[in-house]
Amino acid sequence: MPIKFKALSYIYNKDMPYAHKALDHIDLDIREGAITAVIGETGSGKSTLVEHLNALLLPSEGSLEVLDYEIKAGEKQKFLKPLRKDVGLVFQFSEYQLFEETVIKDVAFGPLNFGYAPQEALQRAADALKMVGIKEDHFEVSPLELSGGQKRRVAIAGIIACDPKIIVLDEPTAGLDPKGSKEIIDLFISLNKTQGKTLIIVSHDNEMVYNYCDDTVVLSKGKLVYHGPTDELFADKEKLKEFNMLEPQIVSFRNELIERGFTLSRQARTLEQIAQEIAKQVKR
Ligand SMILES: Nc1ncnc2c1ncn2[C@@H]1O[C@H](COP(=O)(O)OP(=O)(O)O)[C@@H](O)[C@H]1O
Ligand SMILES: [Mg+2]
Repeated sequence: MPIKFKALSYIYNKDMPYAHKALDHIDLDIREGAITAVIGETGSGKSTLVEHLNALLLPSEGSLEVLDYEIKAGEKQKFLKPLRKDVGLVFQFSEYQLFEETVIKDVAFGPLNFGYAPQEALQRAADALKMVGIKEDHFEVSPLELSGGQKRRVAIAGIIACDPKIIVLDEPTAGLDPKGSKEIIDLFISLNKTQGKTLIIVSHDNEMVYNYCDDTVVLSKGKLVYHGPTDELFADKEKLKEFNMLEPQIVSFRNELIERGFTLSRQARTLEQIAQEIAKQVKR
């Protein structure tokens, strides 16, 4: 069951003098089980696009299908709760949404709201907190006492605890240091690899996108301008120029090696993978 946008447009302040079309006639099929990046300049419509996935925004025109749910412009939504259980959305600066008096209560809120028994909700919350690297001695403190990075982890645990099928991340690492960013990204990649979660990641980090995302969607001024395999996009210098994008350093490095006579498979996209393949050729 792919995620399907059908001729979807979204207009902010519709029927007002300052109406603004933020998405313009989007036709897009996102693969289930894959990691898809959504990239594009600031204001291109990335957040507006992904906020349709859990019906936070409803289409002004057109429709979309997510799992078994169909959302059409002008129709009242009947299935918001199950949809929001199945599609977890981690906002940009999600830490501002913590509101309970303790960390564990905050993370258990989602599972409780979606009908898990209290004991199971707490267990899910504890498991999710451990996954994101929050230790047990922090469970009973107020979220306000945590550092920014820890708050972000708690907010992410709140989504993981609900066991969504699709996880949507809107710039999940914005403002985090490189080490914190890598840990968060590694966690989500492992949720994809081990549990088959569909990931949709809005990002400005082309290096990360190239390393980990199977497919990439590029938006420009509310229009879809590219959707396809990530490695094909980054191998296409014309397209990068057209979309005003820099070639990631890892791509330049790969190309230099190939020019110097090494053979690299299409899969070799991280430094570790490239090093492994080169090492084999050097040994011989
Ligand atoms: N609440 C809003 N009201 C009016 N216009 C908005 C609102 N949110 C976003 N926009 C406009 O819609 C366009 C797309 O915004 P957004 O989806 O946030 O882009 P991105 O996430 O790619 O930076 C931008 O021109 C932005 O200014
Ligand atoms: Mg945005």
